[in-house]
Amino acid sequence: MAEKSYFPKGFLWGGAIAANQAEGAWDKDGKGMSVADVAMYKPNIDKSDYVSQWHVSPEQIEEAMQTDDTVYYPKRRGIDFYHRYEEDLALMEEMGMKVLRVSIAWTRLFPTGTEEEPIQAGIDYYVRLFKEMRKRKIEPLVTLSHYEMPLYLVNHYDGWVSREVVDMFVTYSKVCFEHFGEYVKYWLTFNEIDSVFRHPFTTVGVVEEKYASKKEAEAAIYQALHHQFVASSLATKYAHEMIENAQVGCMLTKTLAYPLTSNPEDVLLAQRHNRDNSFYADVQVFGEYPLFMKRYLAENDIIIDKLAGDDEILKQHTVDFVSFSYYMSMIKSVNEDKMEKVGGNLITSVKNPYLDISDWGWQVDPVGLRISLIDLYDRYHLPLFVVENGIGSIDELVDGKVHDEYRIDYFRKHFEQMNLACKEGVEMFGYTSWGCIDIVSASTSQMSKRYGFIYVDADDLGNGSYDRIKKDSFYWYKKVIETNGAQL
Ligand code: BG6
Repeated sequence: MAEKSYFPKGFLWGGAIAANQAEGAWDKDGKGMSVADVAMYKPNIDKSDYVSQWHVSPEQIEEAMQTDDTVYYPKRRGIDFYHRYEEDLALMEEMGMKVLRVSIAWTRLFPTGTEEEPIQAGIDYYVRLFKEMRKRKIEPLVTLSHYEMPLYLVNHYDGWVSREVVDMFVTYSKVCFEHFGEYVKYWLTFNEIDSVFRHPFTTVGVVEEKYASKKEAEAAIYQALHHQFVASSLATKYAHEMIENAQVGCMLTKTLAYPLTSNPEDVLLAQRHNRDNSFYADVQVFGEYPLFMKRYLAENDIIIDKLAGDDEILKQHTVDFVSFSYYMSMIKSVNEDKMEKVGGNLITSVKNPYLDISDWGWQVDPVGLRISLIDLYDRYHLPLFVVENGIGSIDELVDGKVHDEYRIDYFRKHFEQMNLACKEGVEMFGYTSWGCIDIVSASTSQMSKRYGFIYVDADDLGNGSYDRIKKDSFYWYKKVIETNGAQL
């Protein structure tokens, strides 16, 4: 690379996974069912139809609860990280990873979410995991809730629409801080909190079919979201009180929009999208709903039930840093209905002729990452952490090797842009690539959609040795970390 490295000293280079996509062992040691355990394998969904990728109907929930099948419910088996984490951490240590983002499966500690005391086996597992990370000098970055809420709360409480769920989440969070606070300093509350409208079942346990109209479902989701905001602030409060030097971040999906043309109407549409996308972090950073959102809710007769004190809780317990996932950018245009679309698990967008697309139709936009970093830093003035980024590809294992130069190329271009963002005055303290070891995909539950530097020998139906194999990108990323981004 021509540029010198502007990454700060001690920059946390690493990777990220989530419990529900990696651990497997879905029914072991007393674990309860989570929303992830009823997510089906969906290989044939139209790549631009992200709603169907994530959707689970009431009938499908019912059916899933009757079976212990792990073939068509791949998150139930994951990559067996639950039993193989030592081997995986050893490889990550070899790569030089400074940080690993993992999540805690709420149902491993509280099978239904309603219990007052956690399951000891669940506590023991995470203590072992975090100790092992510390032993290997890998800093844990832990998400409390990553698309894996207890299914029981969906079936018996209407998910996060119920206020009681806030208390249950707080109980769960306090147990995490009490038992794991000794090992874990960096915490995230809700993964991609802005995805409540994109896939409400997975995030807030809202089954849209239960509501008489779209409008009622929308109001229910806003109510559920409000509860997550309050729960996030309370978790932040307790983390700060219970753990010395705890740092808590919000986590949003950065879905950067560009106007298609200089037509001011296109510019306005893109601005509106970006502003809506900021709403969630605005609440968690500034501690209050922005005026544009208060107005939207009022104009649409959406009344959020708040308890006395909610506003103060939001205001008092704001986050210490902003984290986000970044996969792609999108285009806004007044004419978008008539234009060709591309996919993503998050958004469907007009095709951008300047960008390449991944095997899954996602628009690859490294410069968009720099734009996002600058935008977010300018808006929030808080340190940033990129906690997800990467490319889902079909990898081929030939003679025990995976030559994934396309992945190296993807990361190189993104890291160059991160470096430039640092040069341009953005305060950024870490980066975790998504799925640093291959895991089951979130949206379609495919194993063949691989993001890792480490290949896992398993196919979509769970066949394979589950051996871990270093891809070419493994050695490349190791060099990047060793040189703090100077050698890309
Ligand atoms: C993010 C999620 O939306 O995208 C991850 O936080 C997910 O859980 C990632 O895995 C990539 O999406 P997918 O569907 O390709 O796994």
